[in-house]
Amino acid sequence: MRIVILGPPGAGKGTQASRLADHLGIPHIATGDIFRQVAAEETELGRRLRATMDAGELVPDEFTNELVKDRLAKSDASNGFILDGYPRNVDQAAALDEALDDLGTKLSHAIKFMVRGDDIVRRLSGRRICLECGAVYHMETHPPQENEKCDHDGTSLVRREDDMEDTILRRLEVYGEQTRPLYDFYRERGKLVEMDGLGSEEEVFERLLGILGH
Ligand code: AP5
Repeated sequence: MRIVILGPPGAGKGTQASRLADHLGIPHIATGDIFRQVAAEETELGRRLRATMDAGELVPDEFTNELVKDRLAKSDASNGFILDGYPRNVDQAAALDEALDDLGTKLSHAIKFMVRGDDIVRRLSGRRICLECGAVYHMETHPPQENEKCDHDGTSLVRREDDMEDTILRRLEVYGEQTRPLYDFYRERGKLVEMDGLGSEEEVFERLLGILGH
């Protein structure tokens, strides 16, 4: 399966994409995670990415498209993949179609997670992440076993810089302006599946498997 997961910031895309990738045995490719790794480095590129992400703006398309194209050409993605956070606008969606054409394949589903505004803010403000392994927690709905430490490696959990209130608002604006038009793009191509993203992580996962026929 070649799937893109779409939805507003905090909709649960990363949480579900990671579970689905384990379940299907295909890679979870999250542009946000890749960018956060580079942004953590004290290099010129790292500093530029950090400034863009912390402001809630999108990383330039040319750089993003090239990175995804190279990633999709790796052998572990030849039997399928789950893209999370990409594409983010219509130009990226067109670039993805082109990259898949070059690989002689096509997207199977574009799945949209639907979550309301107040749930988005609740999810983002309670989120904590492990910078070491990328694990994602929520202080109410998915807390770590030991206070603010990662269950996998004991690293102290942190709040993402772009989960601060002002940046959340800017991310939602960018989503409305640039990412929403993607729904028509995929609807017109018969790929869009709209899914309720509310409920527990487990409930959402079962719903997702039902849609995919697993
Ligand atoms: P990115 O990391 O992709 O951020 P996003 O799309 O805004 O999505 P999030 O990671 O915030 O949320 P999510 O939907 O994955 O939710 P999660 O599962 O974590 O991008 C960050 C930045 O990178 C962008 O702003 C941009 O600068 C740059 N970037 C990335 N891709 C780009 C691209 N293609 N082009 C240009 N720039 C790009 O869940 C959120 C919280 O809710 C967690 O705490 C989780 O535990 C909790 N939770 C999850 N599910 C449930 C549930 N069912 N019930 C209760 N809580 C839940």
